[in-house]
Amino acid sequence: MFTLVPQLVIGAADLSAAFLFLFGLKRMSSPATAPSGIRVAGIGMIAAVLASFLYVFTVDAAARPHLLINIALAVAALAIGGGAAWVAGRRVAMTAMPQMVAIYNGMGGGAAGGIAAVELFGGRTHGVTELAVTLLGGLIGAVSLSGSAIAWAKLDGVIKQPWRVKGQQYLNAAVMFATLVVAGVILATASGALGLSTATWIWIFFACALVFGVLMTLPIGGADMPVVISIYNAFTGLAVGLEGFVLQNPALMIAGMVVGAAGLLLTLLMAKAMNRSVANVLFTNFGTVAKARPGAIQGEEKPVDAADAAIKMRYASSVIIVPGYGLAAARAQQKLYEFVKLLIAAKVSVKFAIHPVAGRMPGQMDVLLAEAGVPYDMIFQLDDINDDFATTDVALIIGANDVVNPAARTDKASPIFGMPILNADKAGQVYVIKRGQGKGYSGIVNALFYGPNCEMVYGDAQAVLVKMIEAVRGLGAAAA
Ligand code: TAP
Repeated sequence: MFTLVPQLVIGAADLSAAFLFLFGLKRMSSPATAPSGIRVAGIGMIAAVLASFLYVFTVDAAARPHLLINIALAVAALAIGGGAAWVAGRRVAMTAMPQMVAIYNGMGGGAAGGIAAVELFGGRTHGVTELAVTLLGGLIGAVSLSGSAIAWAKLDGVIKQPWRVKGQQYLNAAVMFATLVVAGVILATASGALGLSTATWIWIFFACALVFGVLMTLPIGGADMPVVISIYNAFTGLAVGLEGFVLQNPALMIAGMVVGAAGLLLTLLMAKAMNRSVANVLFTNFGTVAKARPGAIQGEEKPVDAADAAIKMRYASSVIIVPGYGLAAARAQQKLYEFVKLLIAAKVSVKFAIHPVAGRMPGQMDVLLAEAGVPYDMIFQLDDINDDFATTDVALIIGANDVVNPAARTDKASPIFGMPILNADKAGQVYVIKRGQGKGYSGIVNALFYGPNCEMVYGDAQAVLVKMIEAVRGLGAAAA
C-alpha cells in the first residue's frame, strides 16, 4: 500500500514546507511577530521531514533492500538529534547563544557535506553537471563544518588566541587550490586512471576542504566571530541548496536558498553596522590589533553611587537606556525592566536605544528586552533615536562600550572610526554601569567615560540595578 503513496502528496508537502519557511521568515522581520514566525517555520520543517519519509515509499522495492533498517536509523537519528537540541535549547544561557548558533550552523554544513559524500562514494551522481554541483555543495558544506567548529571554539574560549603564521594567506590559497585540483580529478576520472581509486580522491577532497575551513578561521580574531558565523551560515545555506538540487528535493533547495540569502544579507548588514567590508573582517584582525593611543584621552573617570544616579533619573523628565554586552553577561534584563517600571510610574519618559551590533550576536538586545517583557514600542533602533539624545536629560549605558564610543565619529586613527554609534554623549547627563576599567570587544579606551557630563556606576549590572531599585523604592516609602 505504501508504494502507492502518490508523488502528489510529497509534492504538496514540499510546497507547503517551502511556503511555511518563507511565511515564517517574513514574520521574523518584526519582534512582535517573530515568535509565531519561528513556530510557522518549525511546522514547515516537520512537513519537509514527513515528505522525506514518504519519499522512500515511492522508490521501487528492489532499490530499497534495507528499508526498515534505514527507517529505524533515521528515526533514531531524529530522536537523538531532536532530543539533544531540545534539552540544549532550553538550558543555553543567553550569552552562550552565539556558540550554539555556530554549532548548529556547522551541523547544517556537515549534513550537506554528508549528502555529497553519500552520493559520491555511492557512485550515484551521474553526468558532469550533477557531479560538479555535488562536489561544490560538499566543498562548501565541509568548509562550513570545520570553520564553524573553530568559530565555536573561539567563542567558547577553548581557543584563546588567533593562530597566524607568516604567509598564512598563501598557505590558505594553496590548500584551496589543492582542493579544487582534486575536485577536477574526481570530475575527470571515475576510474583509477591516475593511480588511486576514485574513493581515495574523494577522501582527499573532503580532507582538504575540512583543513581549508580550519585554516581560514584560525587567524580571525574573536571579535569578528559573529560575522564569520554569519558568512558560514550563508555557506551552509548554499551547500544545502546545491545538495537539494542533486537530490531533486524542492524543500531542501528552497530552505537552502532562503538560509543562504538570509546569511548573506545578515553578513552585509553587520559589516555595514561596523563600517567594515567583509574582506576586512576576513583578512584583518579587528578584535586583536586595537591599541589605546597614548595621550589621546585626557581626564579621569568619575565614580558615582548607584543610589545617587537612580534618584537623579527618578526626577528627570526623559531617560534613554543603551544596553550592551554587559547587560547580557550580567543577566540583568529583568532587574532593568523592574527599574524602568518604577521610572515610568514616576512619569519619566523612558526609551531603549539599540545599536545593530550591540552584544555579541545580531538582535541579542532585542531578544533580551523582549524576554524581560519590555514593550516593543519602547525599543528604538539607532537611526530612529539618535537625534533624541541631544534633548534627553539622562543616557543610562548598561554594559555597553564600543557602540557609544565617540572616537568612531572623531578619531581617524581609531580602529572603529566611521562605525555608526549611538550619540549617548550628547545627553545632558550620562551614567555608565560597568564593573571597572574593562574595555569593549574592540579593545580600545572609550573617551565618553572621561567626558564632563559622564559618571561611572561601578559594579555588576544586576547588583547595581538592585541598588537603584531599592533607592527609588526608598523614595516612595519616605514620601508615604
Ligand atoms: P562591548 O563594547 O563589548 O562592551 C561591553 C562592556 O560591558 C565592557 O566594557 C565591560 O566592561 C562591560 N561588562 C561586562 N560584563 C559586565 C557585567 N557583568 N556588568 C556590567 N558591565 C559588564 O559591548 P557593546 O557596546 O555591546 O559592543 C559590542 C561589540 O561587539 C562591538 O565592538 C561590536 O562591533 C562587536 N561585535 C558585535 C557583533 C554583534 S552582531 N552584536 C558582531 C561582531 C562584533 P567591564 O569589564 O569594566 O565591566
